[in-house]
Amino acid sequence: MDYLQIKGVKSLNGTIKISGAKNASLPLIAMTILAKNKVKIKNLPQVADIKTLLKLLSNLGATCEMQNDAMEVDTSTLTQTKATYDIVKTMRASILVLGPILSRFGHCEVSLPGGCAIGQRPIDLHLKALEQMGAKINIEAGYVQANAPKGLKGCDIIFDKITVTGTANIVMAAALAKGVTTITNAAREPEVVQLCEILNANGVKIEGIGSASLKIHGTNGKLIDIDEFSIIPDRIEAGTYLCAAAITKSTLTLENVEPSHLGAVIAKLEEMGCKFSIAPQTMTIHPAKTLKPIKIITQEYPGFPTDMQAQFLALATQANGTSIIEERLFENRFMHVSELQRMGANITLSGNIATVVGKTKLSGTDVMATDLRASSALVLAALVADGITNVHRIYHLDRGYDSLEKKLENVGAKIKRLQE
Ligand code: EPZ
Repeated sequence: MDYLQIKGVKSLNGTIKISGAKNASLPLIAMTILAKNKVKIKNLPQVADIKTLLKLLSNLGATCEMQNDAMEVDTSTLTQTKATYDIVKTMRASILVLGPILSRFGHCEVSLPGGCAIGQRPIDLHLKALEQMGAKINIEAGYVQANAPKGLKGCDIIFDKITVTGTANIVMAAALAKGVTTITNAAREPEVVQLCEILNANGVKIEGIGSASLKIHGTNGKLIDIDEFSIIPDRIEAGTYLCAAAITKSTLTLENVEPSHLGAVIAKLEEMGCKFSIAPQTMTIHPAKTLKPIKIITQEYPGFPTDMQAQFLALATQANGTSIIEERLFENRFMHVSELQRMGANITLSGNIATVVGKTKLSGTDVMATDLRASSALVLAALVADGITNVHRIYHLDRGYDSLEKKLENVGAKIKRLQE
């Protein structure tokens, strides 16, 4: 198994190119199930989760081939409608094929994703909405069996909680449904917005894009032609590198970034004393001389993203004073805390609130990644720790960060990928 060996540095310097967004790529790859043509997707990030979903589509009979810098996905040869446990267990976002497959074929079997490190992560809201659209759903032997032999019917859906992949799933199910579907309390993440924009540009009229109330006009079973598109930049990858600059007191420039997707993250870094020069598609962070402590509560977009909570917790160990970080979306998203404490961080947990007393000196040691964003928090801490840190189980990191060690090495980090 690979691990990262990181030596604490004085500072970083230079430019990092941001890759396409993992969490936009996943629903957009699933969306190709609604297409009658070969769909060209540009700017896909080279991360494990994308490879997993493309493998799932190939297992179902689709073909996915790289043509120059675009992935070409042809689902016209898709014949299977069962997403098996072996793939789904490695990536819960596989549930994103449920809506499109059910809408196109009238039946679908998807293994229940099961929980994951950060929480139970049920899919009850996805299933309840599909039932409202006329699907018969039952759970048997760990599989969701969904049937809608006469196709799905548009209806009014109100989500009890805001769910990102739940919204994406229902938007895609509604795309081929008969009639109009409204979604109230829809997720507004930029990744959901891009899915709606692409569908809307290719024959599925969607109103309210970017708002919490969507209206989707279904094609009544007609597959759509989807023009080539490019994935939006990954705002969480970008936010992670902004934290790398802030924690090492470095000036870094990010390219291929969408600053407007980072409002809450930029605001918090400014509160901590950082400054920014912002232009279309690029931004430069100017670090604070001394970081101020911060209060964070994670929320759905456009609030502070839960996917940036671990990174800011690592950053808060270097702030002068006490920071309070509250995780409101997931019940178990503080597993990075014990590893940071082993590096010397002064953090106490009470329920879903972490209190971080800074500034603490961190010492390099062996640490273990537990989930995707926790692993990036450990990398950030290692960048400023005294001595060498070995971050183990970085298969978690490889799920969502494209060439992280290369990107950091290019701006001066002392970081190497080694084999256990
Ligand atoms: C998406 O997960 C992201 N993943 C997550 O990013 C992100 O943390 C999360 O949204 C929140 O922003 C992808 O987009 C692939 P949710 P998702 O459904 O859709 C509860 C990363 O690091 N809920 O918005 O699975 C759920 O338990 C990953 O890239 C239900 O109760 O999250 C949670 O408490 C980690 N029933 C809350 O809603 C449901 O049917 C938000 O979950 C669905 C969700």
